[in-house]
Amino acid sequence: MNEEIPGLLSEFENKLKDVSSLTSLEELKNEYLGRKGIVNGLLVKIQTQDVTVRKTSGSEINVFKKNIEEKIADHKTNLLRVSESPFVDVSIPKIKLPQGSLHIVTHAIEEISRLFERLGFIRMSYREVEWEYFSFEALNMPKNHPARDDFETFFVDVSADDKWGRMVMTPHTSNGQIREMERVKSTPPIKMINIGKTYRPNWDASHVPMFHQFEGLCIDKGISIVNLKGTIDYFVKSFFGFDRVFRLRPFHFQFTEPSFEIDISCDVCSGTGIVNGLKCKLCKSGWLELGGAGMVHPNVLKSGNIDSNMYSGWAFGFGIERVAMMKEGLKLDDIRVLYSGDIRFLQQF
Ligand code: PHE
Repeated sequence: MNEEIPGLLSEFENKLKDVSSLTSLEELKNEYLGRKGIVNGLLVKIQTQDVTVRKTSGSEINVFKKNIEEKIADHKTNLLRVSESPFVDVSIPKIKLPQGSLHIVTHAIEEISRLFERLGFIRMSYREVEWEYFSFEALNMPKNHPARDDFETFFVDVSADDKWGRMVMTPHTSNGQIREMERVKSTPPIKMINIGKTYRPNWDASHVPMFHQFEGLCIDKGISIVNLKGTIDYFVKSFFGFDRVFRLRPFHFQFTEPSFEIDISCDVCSGTGIVNGLKCKLCKSGWLELGGAGMVHPNVLKSGNIDSNMYSGWAFGFGIERVAMMKEGLKLDDIRVLYSGDIRFLQQF
């Protein structure tokens, strides 16, 4: 019998009792089981003993070693259970991290894209810096035509091209009509929804110099106003709600004939223009203006190399900021807050 072992074992047990952290447990383990530890020390000592004695001593030392290993493992389990798993109170309210959200205009763009995709329209995004030709001439507004004044325009300071004219920041998304006709190489059908940034040099409570439009264009054989009305009806009802109605109001655009402005019924006064016996503050008339539309002018089809004897089509162009605000029932007294980057405003959407 190895006389040292019982003493060593009780000494170990005493030390283990005082161990209350994983680091000191590791130290104790090292002291006994490490390369230069007590157990290895015992093994070295018996090297010189007689073979038979060595054999029994060796197995006694092994039992001692196992014993220590087990006690250390048990102690570790206890330590983990007690000290490293604090009580978790699941009823404590969580720390709320600030959360980002999409801009109200981005929300509207996404929703409009999905709605028109469902009708088989293809979402396009045509250029924002464009030749004068595509924004005006090709849309039946020749040079010096007074209708150009309706689209106050930023010109880009680069030299003009003999054929295409000056460069502009697109004042509307209607250049996309011609671009799309060119893309399909004179072969309709076309069902396009062109969503893009538009620019006009105005900066006041109801205008920002950069805003967005979405332009619908549908060209095929036998397309009439009926198709336009059906599409607008689908849009109005899906975007604003099933109780909303719209009307076509005769108007003038150079690139459509006939042309209309489209109004939708106001949701504040349900289209009556009256709230509690007083004029509705939002619309004043029962109607809210949505934007322009019409049947594509034959001269425009001609610019896009489409045979106007064979094909006809309609187009509309609506403002995204406007429809987004109409949908949210937002009457901002200053539209510029949309782009002010004021987090207190933006967080609400
Ligand atoms: N481009 C016109 C505008 O910006 C809107 C429009 C588009 C009208 C297409 C008719 C057809 O006011």
